[in-house]
Amino acid sequence: MTLLLLLLGGIVIGIVLVLCFLLISSPSPRKPTENEGYYNVLQTEDRQKTPSIFDPPSVSLSLIVPAFDESKRLPIMLNDTVDFLETRKKTNGSFTYEVIIVDDGSRDNTIQAATDYARNRPTVDIRILALEKNRGKGGAVTQGMLCARGEQCLMVDADGATEFSDLANLEEKLESTVNEEGYGIAVGSRSHLVSTEAVVKRSFIRNFLMRAFHTLVYTLGIRGIEDTQCGFKLFTRKAAQLVFPNMHVERWIFDIECLMIAQSQKIPLVEVQVKWHEIDGSKVNLITDSAQMARDLFLIRLNFMLGFWKIHCRIAGCAPSDQYVWSSVV
Ligand SMILES: *[C@@H]1O[C@H](CO)[C@@H](O)[C@H](O)[C@H]1NC(C)=O
Ligand SMILES: *[C@@H]1O[C@H](CO)[C@@H](O)[C@H](O)[C@H]1NC(C)=O
Repeated sequence: MTLLLLLLGGIVIGIVLVLCFLLISSPSPRKPTENEGYYNVLQTEDRQKTPSIFDPPSVSLSLIVPAFDESKRLPIMLNDTVDFLETRKKTNGSFTYEVIIVDDGSRDNTIQAATDYARNRPTVDIRILALEKNRGKGGAVTQGMLCARGEQCLMVDADGATEFSDLANLEEKLESTVNEEGYGIAVGSRSHLVSTEAVVKRSFIRNFLMRAFHTLVYTLGIRGIEDTQCGFKLFTRKAAQLVFPNMHVERWIFDIECLMIAQSQKIPLVEVQVKWHEIDGSKVNLITDSAQMARDLFLIRLNFMLGFWKIHCRIAGCAPSDQYVWSSVV
């Protein structure tokens, strides 16, 4: 009898502890500040109220570029990217695009670097959303997506590690994957590089952590996607409307939440191999970031499992309003 009571007590305490852990450490995004409701359109030097992902699209493609202390790498990446897209524009008169750079509270002159670049390319529609306080890559991507105007929206890293011309492959695969209602995501993937020299020659600890991470991701429920972390993902507008207003995680692991939401909503996903080369200056700290990632993975799964986080907008009858955009529950 006492044994049973002890056991019950133990279980109750265990549950309380888990709930406390959830309450204390679950990511909950801060609300955008007043200034973050505006962005700078460099072409016209206008400060404009940001549009909403729920508005009708007005360009073919939005690029969302999260940038934190990227004054060196960003102009090079922009140059390659813009060259590719301008070439496409010449051959296809109906193609239009915008570049949204989300400055994630950089401490260097990232904004100035982007502005200087834009001055030299006056025909290119570059917009800067400046976050007043650093959020993390996931937060920056989310904020950018929420004000994108594209029929399709691409998230792409500022470091230029992926070859931008691979966009054509993503588009092609997305077109054959998208469902009747217009939902679909093409996920860039480096999984084919795992057995190549570039990866094998990495340190033991790095490869060990990579395997551990993959196992954890698989256990927690992302199946069928081998490389969840590649920063090159193409969304149809419908998919972006469903995924990004529901995001909580702002740090590295946000890709997982993004894919988890997509899979739970039955958005068709396709993984597309991309060329990729490691660029110096990675901001991932192996040990602390790995620990944080593992913790956040559990948090995401637990929050969805226990119903603390809900997906607010099912496919049909989506009635978006400002208040639900950041209604984090915990
Ligand atoms: C951009 O690319 C052009 C060639 O396409 C090159 O002449 C120019 O120096 C590049 N600019 C930057 C900032 O890399
Ligand atoms: C031109 O661009 C538009 C918008 O992206 C696209 O829908 C169309 O298929 C393109 N046409 C050709 C011939 O590639």
